Amino acid sequence: MAQTQTAPPTTGPATWQPKVVAFLCNWCSYAGADLAGVSRIQYPPNVRIIRVPCSGRINPLFLLRALQNGADAVLVSGCHPGDCHYISGNLAARRKFALLKDLLLYVGLEPERVQFTWVSASEGGRFAAIIDKVVEQARRLGPNRKLVKPL
Ligand code: FES
Repeated sequence: MAQTQTAPPTTGPATWQPKVVAFLCNWCSYAGADLAGVSRIQYPPNVRIIRVPCSGRINPLFLLRALQNGADAVLVSGCHPGDCHYISGNLAARRKFALLKDLLLYVGLEPERVQFTWVSASEGGRFAAIIDKVVEQARRLGPNRKLVKPL
């Protein structure tokens, strides 16, 4: 299981912390997150991980739904090119998310709220560094309010 620091409060203007949803493929990126945890590599606790069979399995609507439900940024991470257990799922994912970024720009959302990367099972340090970067980027962008449904 991935190890994180204690989660800070995420409500109130003075205590706002970005919320990041990370979709990780089971075979590489989730194992990389797990390695970061067992290696006790610290990374921000702002990330909530969703384990999927392959990055190619992720429908771009999942990412929009996450943003709609309050995520400030979304990360998709799969196996490196050539390592996908389903041959080319990661390459299909890369094409889908490049198009999604164009769509986000078109509708007025910051495309930087969606990030795509590769992390292998042996790259716990790389996983932690990517989470640091995505959380920092989300912090710079501020709260995502454009797609969030008012209560
Ligand atoms: Fe990891 Fe396809 S199995 S991206």
